[in-house]
Amino acid sequence: MARPDTSHRNLIQYYEEAGPDYSAWSPGFNMHFGFFRFGMNPFRLEAMLRRMNQEVLMRLDVPAKETVIDMGCGLGATVRNIAEVRSDLTLTGITLVPWQITRATDLTPGAMRKRVRFLRKDYTDSGFPARSFGAAYALESSCYADGFSKADVLSEAFRILKPGARFVVADGFIKHLKAKNFIFERSLRKISDCWEVTQFGEIGSFKDAAESAGFSIVSVEEISYRIAPSVAFVPWVTLRFFFKELLIKRSKLTRKRWDNAIAPFLGILVGLFRKNYGYYMITLEKPGKSSSR
Ligand SMILES: C[S@@+](CC[C@H](N)C(=O)[O-])C[C@H]1O[C@@H](n2cnc3c(N)ncnc32)[C@H](O)[C@@H]1O
Repeated sequence: MARPDTSHRNLIQYYEEAGPDYSAWSPGFNMHFGFFRFGMNPFRLEAMLRRMNQEVLMRLDVPAKETVIDMGCGLGATVRNIAEVRSDLTLTGITLVPWQITRATDLTPGAMRKRVRFLRKDYTDSGFPARSFGAAYALESSCYADGFSKADVLSEAFRILKPGARFVVADGFIKHLKAKNFIFERSLRKISDCWEVTQFGEIGSFKDAAESAGFSIVSVEEISYRIAPSVAFVPWVTLRFFFKELLIKRSKLTRKRWDNAIAPFLGILVGLFRKNYGYYMITLEKPGKSSSR
């Protein structure tokens, strides 16, 4: 069985040092942006973050009593949120960070632990048998895979999914590699360094790689304007974080904690380059007949 190796040292160190700080963004440790629908209160950040989880679930269209995998689960907020609303599902969250496994398990209510587990595995080489899962998703985690196309995570998702199962990916993507812009490129590089992101994907290469892996594309939605209301919280959350840590607690922040706190500001800048960058939700399906849908 494939085991994560030490080459992910920086990623692990980043999440171990800065991981607890995500509570400033979301008390439920939703480590992603929110999804806004008309009728929602745009001043309630946590509700938009949880809504993102539900939007992923909706697109997965998971048949009853299936097994679902979260490829890059963080502290398991999405797994728990899905488990709350679908008591028939069994869920597995995988991450490379040992601290996240322990913390995600602690955050999971005892009764839920019978159908929810968190494992240390690499989503490009998970070691699960082929056709193990009835649905998979990667919420703001595919950017940690190598290359613009994310071919490795796509082929692994395809391998471990059952025929007819869906794979939903939500993340920031570069729109056109050829559209050059110095400030955009410098800002994106800086964000990647701050968050230990390997490489943001490029949407065209991603779609090609999804088809080469064998998936059919159900939908590609640019949802930048849906996440914008949650992005608007960044300045407030960051200032509140610095106020509490530096003035009240008198903490000495490590480099990784500083980087983690300033990266979302750069995210606002990058998001303004609408021709170069967008936030996408992509729904893919492995061809074949689902046994239970
Ligand atoms: C920004 S967090 C998102 C967490 C979670 N999806 C959420 O929305 O709350 C990215 C996650 O991807 C995980 N990750 C990065 N590379 C990975 C890999 N090769 N295999 C498994 N998980 C990975 C990180 O450990 C982290 O948990």
